[in-house]
Amino acid sequence: MSDGFVSVRNLIKTYKMGETDVHALNGVSLEIERGTFNVLMGPSGSGKSTLLYMIGGLDWPTSGSILVDGEQIDQMDENRLANYRRDKLGFIFQSFNLVSSMTAEANIGFPLRFSGIKKNQRLQRALALMEQVGLEERIGHKPTELSGGQQQRVAVARALVNDPPLILADEPTGNLDTQSGIVIMQLLEQLCKSGKTIIVASHDPRILNYATHRINLLDGQLVSDAQYQETLQHLG
Ligand SMILES: Nc1ncnc2c1ncn2[C@@H]1O[C@H](COP(=O)(O)OP(=O)(O)O)[C@@H](O)[C@H]1O
Ligand SMILES: [Mg+2]
Repeated sequence: MSDGFVSVRNLIKTYKMGETDVHALNGVSLEIERGTFNVLMGPSGSGKSTLLYMIGGLDWPTSGSILVDGEQIDQMDENRLANYRRDKLGFIFQSFNLVSSMTAEANIGFPLRFSGIKKNQRLQRALALMEQVGLEERIGHKPTELSGGQQQRVAVARALVNDPPLILADEPTGNLDTQSGIVIMQLLEQLCKSGKTIIVASHDPRILNYATHRINLLDGQLVSDAQYQETLQHLG
């Protein structure tokens, strides 16, 4: 046994596309320590989102095991996975995924409804988180009244609402301008410094400036930094 916070063993994920099998993950093993900022690098189609979804308990692997904070999640049923996601995870997506009819406050407080938290407490929590991401004066705004960068900051606040130890982000700066992207990376860096474990899928090399660890994926397999550089050069 290892003492990794996230421990992935020989992970395989094969999608069936009609008659053909797509090998999205081809035997991935890795250890991630608590409190580290990990960047998952890889070109489009290399399996980054698939790996994040497996660690995030959004889908089951074909084979292999995933331990997070001492819990083996690959065998969990849907109910236990829902609890795991609520207690352990914050997920940030490229396209923000905010509910457009709800204010920032309601979007952030929404996950707390499932924990039976009362409206007033949800508001207090949302306010504190909006302050943390520097948007307290926008708490009553809906997504359409916010810029992309502001929407992603609301999404970061929502990911933090249950104070999860693990933050997963799938191309969180992919839809943002340069400056807004930097703000998101700095927020993630702050979260890492406050003790959270961060895994970010990205092909934006700027994020390497904020990371403590780098993971390279090519065609569903981990490769060294040197192998990664060499292969990408050959691809042009
Ligand atoms: N639901 C799915 N059904 C079939 N194939 C999929 C599905 N999700 C991903 N894939 C395939 O798996 C591979 C890895 O995809 P993905 O994890 O999205 O890569 P990345 O996030 O690095 O772009 C790709 O070939 C993709 O087409
Ligand atoms: Mg992806």
